[in-house]
Amino acid sequence: MRTCSQSGPGAARTPVLVHAGGLIHARDREEQVRAQAISSGIFSLLISSSHINKRITELAHNIICTERARRHEEICLLIVLKGAVFFGCRLAREISSAGSLPVAMHFISAASYGNQAHSSGRCRIAGNLNALHGKDVIVVEDILDSGRTLYKLKNHLLKKAHAASVTICVLLDKPGGRKARFQNMGRIDYIGFRIPAVFVAGGGLDYFDQFRELPFIVAVHDKALCV
Ligand code: IMP
Ligand code: MG
Repeated sequence: MRTCSQSGPGAARTPVLVHAGGLIHARDREEQVRAQAISSGIFSLLISSSHINKRITELAHNIICTERARRHEEICLLIVLKGAVFFGCRLAREISSAGSLPVAMHFISAASYGNQAHSSGRCRIAGNLNALHGKDVIVVEDILDSGRTLYKLKNHLLKKAHAASVTICVLLDKPGGRKARFQNMGRIDYIGFRIPAVFVAGGGLDYFDQFRELPFIVAVHDKALCV
């Protein structure tokens, strides 16, 4: 197992911006071609599956190191459905295969986008959070955009579910989408990739309820979407 010399949330907060020009593997090139072939050429590969998987391994390592340093006895993941389902499950497996701390997986549903490409301005949270009373919860979310979902979820967990602490782990951070009123939700402890203000799909994220299953993340070049 790797050591924790780079432990702590600080190591995980370094965002990575991935350009198509940064692709290295033959498999990345295959995914680039596959992305362009889907949906009449409006997709372009933003982050390949190999980059995603490598980053999830790093995040798992950082989480283990930080949780051990905090003397937590288990890693309690709250996976936000639907978008974080693949990310959350892979992260749980990576943490578990490192073998040092037991992992508990919980799920909640949060929806703000509905069936459209723009946030509805509301966020619906559904799920039983009784099991999180007194727990140190790591919320696992697909993307931080306006900040509304995570702002509401964090308040909900602390005030209604009475979690002992809440840290946040997102696969993607889209700082260009952030709304001023959700800026003060505190630090985002773990960020996979920081991306530009484009609409993305794949890796769990949907475009009109499709393409969640793609193992890579694409930018969606749809003129009807003004992100
Ligand atoms: P926020 O509440 O505006 O931060 O948005 C969070 C939710 O909006 C995420 O959990 C996603 O479900 C959805 N979302 C935001 N940006 C995108 C995107 O580019 N593609 C797909 N879904 C997105
Ligand atoms: Mg989501």
